[in-house]
Amino acid sequence: MIDFLWECGSLLLRWLHIVAAMAWIGSSFFFMHLDASLRKTAEIPASEGAAAWQVHGGGFYEMRKYFVAPGHLDPHLTWHKWQSYSTWLSGFVLIAWIYYAQASLYLIDPAVRDISPAVASGIGVGALAAGWLVYDLTCRSPLGRNEGTLAIVGLAFVTLAAYGFANVFSARGALIHTGALMATWMAGNVFLVIIPNQRKVVAALLDHRPPDPALGKQAKQRSAQNNYLTLPVILLMISNHYPFLFAGKETLPLIVALATVAGALVRYFYNVRHADHERSPWWAWGAAAAVLAGAFALALSTSPLGRRILDTASAGTHPRLELASASPPEEVVGIVLSRCSMCHASEPLWDGIAIAPKGVHLDDAAAIARQVAAIRYQAVDTHNMPPNNLTGITDEERDVLAAWARTDRR
Ligand code: HEC
Repeated sequence: MIDFLWECGSLLLRWLHIVAAMAWIGSSFFFMHLDASLRKTAEIPASEGAAAWQVHGGGFYEMRKYFVAPGHLDPHLTWHKWQSYSTWLSGFVLIAWIYYAQASLYLIDPAVRDISPAVASGIGVGALAAGWLVYDLTCRSPLGRNEGTLAIVGLAFVTLAAYGFANVFSARGALIHTGALMATWMAGNVFLVIIPNQRKVVAALLDHRPPDPALGKQAKQRSAQNNYLTLPVILLMISNHYPFLFAGKETLPLIVALATVAGALVRYFYNVRHADHERSPWWAWGAAAAVLAGAFALALSTSPLGRRILDTASAGTHPRLELASASPPEEVVGIVLSRCSMCHASEPLWDGIAIAPKGVHLDDAAAIARQVAAIRYQAVDTHNMPPNNLTGITDEERDVLAAWARTDRR
């Protein structure tokens, strides 16, 4: 019963997290676009502000930005902050719910480091906090004065963090923590820099004092960084459902770096295009595609599938093709029953698993035959299953599964 409730909680949290993130990213994209599309108008002196026209939902909007300070401030200000806070809070509870509370399934890979769930969770939370401190100090240091330098330093941090995480956590755990680290930068930017700065500006205006323009500038810098981080963070958040990406642990940091660059390039395209359609940097799409292709090729080359292809090519042998049989050989059934079915059954025996994960049943020969493609992907081409090899499947057993799953191509 408790496992069932755990699943319900996980679903509700994920729902909240995704909706909150959509609202946050939507407003981030909206305001970057708005800023880029501002034009001088006849009514406002160019040094004081600019405006943009928008049409939506049957109405026209004239959005005006004050570069310095408006002459008066309406008390009905809409603050954009809860999208960000609720995304981070729900995300943090979700990572604790899944990765810390079920650490042996998702976070700890004894082949990488055999640590206790408490230690693993402590490292995770500590790394998020330390990551924010380092990032914030860097932004405030001379390195933060130039956007390009900051971007390069940020990318180096992300890559190093992925390397560090990959050396203590399972590959999934490493990816989600790298994404969470970047997401913490984003939420921290809103909570600790952008909103406090804005509050100071509002207080000054209400006091009829001129606000310090540096406050707005700093907020804008962090907001632009958040915009470049959005796409990479989302990719990292969903990447843990694609084990081909992280089958090879050594390449994980580089794959994270390439994904980050690709996501930022796509944002760059839109940020420039929204300012001036004529100057749309189409090359950015080409570059992003090439970088992603590089990441995928790297992932393939270090996955068990890629290694097998390379081995076969260099040995000059071809796997012998046998006729696919409707029911898997007894040896295959034996392996799957002993290594997989304690979780993947109608009534799983594994502690903490209430129903067959993802609805995948592997508890009799017919079910195993139906799942041949999934078994090939999860246990042969990638070593994603069993999770963190909890049931101790051997390489020889994987070879037996491989020989069967490669011939039975359904
Ligand atoms: C300790 C429990 C456990 C064992 C043992 C286990 N699995 Fe899984 N399996 C899971 C969990 C948990 C998930 C869901 C992972 C997720 O949420 O991404 C899963 C997911 C899957 C999926 C669906 C993947 C997807 O995202 O659609 C397949 C296929 C699968 N396992 C195959 C296997 C095979 C084959 C074996 C044996 C070699 C195996 N599993 C052993 C727990 C287990």
